[in-house]
Amino acid sequence: MKIICRCEDVTEEEIVQKIKEGYQTMDDLKRIMRVTMGLCQGKGCRKHIAKILSRELNIPIEEIVQPTYRPPVKPIPISATIDKT
Ligand code: FES
Repeated sequence: MKIICRCEDVTEEEIVQKIKEGYQTMDDLKRIMRVTMGLCQGKGCRKHIAKILSRELNIPIEEIVQPTYRPPVKPIPISATIDKT
């Protein structure tokens, strides 16, 4: 068992199974399994999932469309939100 998305605890076998069920894009997998939606926002799993999709669908990795990237949620001090001009 190889964990691909550590934030959402998703294994390679689970991803391959979903691809075989017809979820064949990064967005499909994101919506059905929450991969790339964890605390790291896909930093730890995005490339691995693209490789699995490429391998399973037999298409070049460059053709795998990446989901929208959002920066990770990180607490900031209130003072950072105050305009100091
Ligand atoms: S490892 Fe997948 S969202 Fe963090």
